Amino acid sequence: MFGKRSVSEPVFGKPAKSSGPDAPPRVVPEMPAAPAPTAKAPPQAVPMAPVRSAAPQVARVTENRSDDYYQIKSTIFNALIDTIDLAQLAQLDPESAREEIRDIVNEIISIKAVVMSIAEQEHLLQDICNDVLGYGPLEPLLARDDIADIMVNGANRVFIEVAGKVQLTNIRFRDNAQLMNICQRIVSQVGRRVDESSPICDARLLDGSRVNVIGPPLSLDGPTLTIRKFKKDKLTLEDLVKFGSISPDGARVLQVIGRCRCNVLISGGTGSGKTTLLNCMTAYIDAEERVITCEDAAELQLQQPHVVRLETRPPNLEGQGQITMRDLVKNCLRMRPERIIVGEVRGPEAFDLLQAMNTGHDGSMGTLHANSPREAMSRLEAMITMGGYALPMKTIREMIVGSIDVIIQAERLRDGSRRITKITEVIGTEGEVVITQDLVSYEVIGEDETGRLKGKHVGTGIVRPAFWERASYYNLEKELADALDKVNQ
Ligand SMILES: Nc1ncnc2c1ncn2[C@@H]1O[C@H](COP(=O)(O)OP(=O)(O)OP(=O)(O)O)[C@@H](O)[C@H]1O
Ligand SMILES: [Mg+2]
Repeated sequence: MFGKRSVSEPVFGKPAKSSGPDAPPRVVPEMPAAPAPTAKAPPQAVPMAPVRSAAPQVARVTENRSDDYYQIKSTIFNALIDTIDLAQLAQLDPESAREEIRDIVNEIISIKAVVMSIAEQEHLLQDICNDVLGYGPLEPLLARDDIADIMVNGANRVFIEVAGKVQLTNIRFRDNAQLMNICQRIVSQVGRRVDESSPICDARLLDGSRVNVIGPPLSLDGPTLTIRKFKKDKLTLEDLVKFGSISPDGARVLQVIGRCRCNVLISGGTGSGKTTLLNCMTAYIDAEERVITCEDAAELQLQQPHVVRLETRPPNLEGQGQITMRDLVKNCLRMRPERIIVGEVRGPEAFDLLQAMNTGHDGSMGTLHANSPREAMSRLEAMITMGGYALPMKTIREMIVGSIDVIIQAERLRDGSRRITKITEVIGTEGEVVITQDLVSYEVIGEDETGRLKGKHVGTGIVRPAFWERASYYNLEKELADALDKVNQ
């Protein structure tokens, strides 16, 4: 009906309003790192109350700690582990556990005659509580909402990304053993294990943050932990407009694309804001639609009432039981979805997603790693070919063209800012070549004195995109015409 595909029932979409559930705080098991406790209960077995729930007590800043401080802390920590009964501590709620630790630490400080100010003592206590009850030195970083990523490269180098810029912090772990223990503590919460025999592991923190661990012998300088912090308040398209990631009229074009059920691929580099943008786009899905999301680690927060969230599963220790993205996407088709959302397309599931897009699941979306819309096309082709389909390239390209309506390109620019740099539509093939046209693109026009890039979103003069008929079917052609008019001015 709209050139490429036929369309099912018309639905006049508008952003859904209901609020999504927040992950409830849960129990964090304790595993003190070095040194090994004496003849007491094994720390791994200790169920301990959540440190997340005690977040207000966690320092928000990354203080400077001297070597002396770490030495004193280590002495006191060792004495504490020798004194404390971890099994008993496990029975207490976090507040009482903290109080218990506080009393013992104060006692140790006076017995050992350690000289320190009240403030230093408070810091020390907080650090020790974090070590015993939570994620140790990571706690202050986890408590901050302005951090996008935490990157731990071995015990002594912890980087964070704030406002698009990566910076080294003063946070340190006692040693690689403590770091590995914390990694283990994190992944064991989702029933996984990381050690020398299986040194790679994906997991999630209880608050939803995405975690990857790669340990020795694969990582040479100690365990490497990467956390994509879960943003409690997900960004919306309005936020992206406020940040200048997209112009107001560009955002209106995106809204029309979302509401008139175009099939969308969001392309971009690592950490460029693809998932965030996908989440923004899903706000324009109508509340009545049945949406199924497939992700490796659930990050999306759809606000609609009728959403089914699916997550892949890695193989177990015997190498069995793996459920791939492809399995999920295939299964989706038997679940009567109206739209399918794939967190990240990276393999043979590309074929199944395209098929779904082409067979009555209009408005499906996914993200993909690529540096330009054109590269996104070639990546899709490569994924389909690698999936073992012996299809002629012409057929694959026709399939892509028949399925994907729009590619949105996200980029993290060199000044750390994240921008939507292209809204491109896929319009057809000419011979064997896929033809695309940009509707909006971001042009860098200079740099201010602080090094921030200046630029603007400009139209390319297209006033009647290929999804025009689709927009008019959904009564959105006036909105589209007006938005494109302004974009092209
Ligand atoms: N337009 C934006 N402006 C400012 N911050 C943004 C913007 N888009 C995303 N972010 C932030 O950048 C971080 C990375 O975003 P996101 O997870 O969406 O990236 P991604 O491209 O999906 O990354 P990955 O490739 O690792 O999956 C998040 O903390 C997010 O809140
Ligand atoms: Mg992502």
